[in-house]
Parts: sequence; structure tokens; C-alpha cells
Amino acid sequence: MFKPSMTLAALLLASSMCAASTSDDIAKATLDELRALVSEGTGVIGDLQPHINSGKLDPALASQESLENKLRARYQKSTSRSIDSPLPGLPGEARKAFLKAYRDVLATHRGVMTKGGQDAFVPAYFRAQVLKEFNKTMGGKVRAYATNRDNELINGDWAVSRVMKGSPVAGHVTELMGTGKLDPVVTRKGDHMLGYWPMKLGASCVQCHAANGLQQKEGTFGGALVAEMSLK
Ligand code: HEC
Repeated sequence: MFKPSMTLAALLLASSMCAASTSDDIAKATLDELRALVSEGTGVIGDLQPHINSGKLDPALASQESLENKLRARYQKSTSRSIDSPLPGLPGEARKAFLKAYRDVLATHRGVMTKGGQDAFVPAYFRAQVLKEFNKTMGGKVRAYATNRDNELINGDWAVSRVMKGSPVAGHVTELMGTGKLDPVVTRKGDHMLGYWPMKLGASCVQCHAANGLQQKEGTFGGALVAEMSLK
């Protein structure tokens, strides 16, 4: 039924008329929406690292309005969509939950950000806090985390065995990470849709991780953003 020419809105409408369970296309659209939001939201905090680390972040740059506008611009550039455009169904629900978590976590950490200091507010920490709140809001229906292979974790809390505890696709994620390949995988496994987006290590990642006791190589696999949902 899905044709590339169909708009997402038409697709959502069609699917809501014919099925109680989530279709593969809706699930993929939801996970992809989440991927874009997480990547761009984390990027906003990534861009501010020099300011935060030097302890000289202009409070105007840390304002809610400024940080929302930065996300708006990055999202538009990366997806060619507006973050403010109506998005019905599950993708819209996910976007709403993400934006709430983004705002909440920034509000809680504004003081830390503006006070600053070396590694006072790193992107990975920010992402973990946002995803924790997001996963809670979605009540387990859609879940996402940044993780890595067991022997390359800075924070053991993000091991697959912990964040994906009980998930039927946890084994597949371990397998994919084992290959160290950098290609994204979006695939259905039984009643589950899995989104797996490997991260490639840049010089700044390697440098900061080294300061945290992790030896890695630029250009290689440096963990993955994983999102999953049940189709039932
Ligand atoms: C300024 C320092 C810094 C930079 C830059 C940085 N990281 Fe990290 N990263 C951390 C810290 C600290 C943690 C652990 C966060 C925590 O305790 O939740 C982490 C955690 C992670 C994790 C989660 C798994 C784990 O090891 O705990 C992944 C995946 C990751 N980083 C990938 C990257 C990639 C890829 C880049 C570059 C695009 C990058 N990081 C840039 C400091 C950094």
C-alpha cells in the first residue's frame, strides 16, 4: 500500500483506518523521526562544547528560545521538514515526547551549562538524560539509547545488557556492533522494529573519550544510536 509518493499524513490516515497494530511503515517513520531529533538535538549541545568548556557560554545562547531555535534550524537542514509542521500519529507523539524531554533536560541543566568548565555538560550525558525521560514518557512503546560494545563503554550503565534488558532484539544489536560496520540498519525482527545507527568516531570524540580512559581510533565504529518498538 505504501507508495513513495504518498505523504506521511496520508499514510498515517490510511493506516489508522485499517489496522490496530502498527504497520512497518509507521514504525519506520517513528524511529526515523526519533533518530533525526536525537542526532540534531545532541548536535546542538555538541556545537556549544567550546563555550561550555571554556566557562564562557553567553547566557543568551543557553536560553530556552535560543536552544529551541538551534534545534529547529538543524532539524530543517537535516530532514528538509519543519519541526513545527503537524505530524499525526505515532511519529508526532514521539516528536512531542522528545521536545518535552529536550526542554526539561535543558531547563534542569541551564545553570551547569552557563557555569561551564571542562566537560561540564558533554553531549552524551545530555542525550542520555533526554532519552531517559523520552523512554519514560512513551511508556516503553518506543525506546532509544546510545550504546557501545561492552569493552568500549565509558559508562557501564549504557551496556546493551542493561538498556535493552528483556528486549527481543538485544542479541541482534550485539551482533551488529560486533561487526563494527558503519551502515545503518532498519529491520523488522518478529514483532519488533529495530533502528540501528552506528556512530563514526571523529577526532574530537576520540580525544575526549581518551581523557575518559577509552582508547579508540578515528574513523572507526564508536557506538550506535539504537531505537526499537513493538509492532503489536
Ligand atoms: C567532550 C567529551 C566527549 C565528546 C566530544 C564525545 N563524547 Fe562520547 N561520551 C563522553 C562521556 C563522558 C560519555 C559517558 C557519558 C555518561 O556517563 O553517560 C560518553 C558516552 C558515549 C557513548 C555511550 C556509551 C558509553 O561509552 O558510555 C557513545 C556511543 C559515545 N559517547 C559516542 C561518541 C561519539 C561518536 C562522539 C563524537 C561524534 C562522542 N561520543 C563525543 C564524552 C564525550
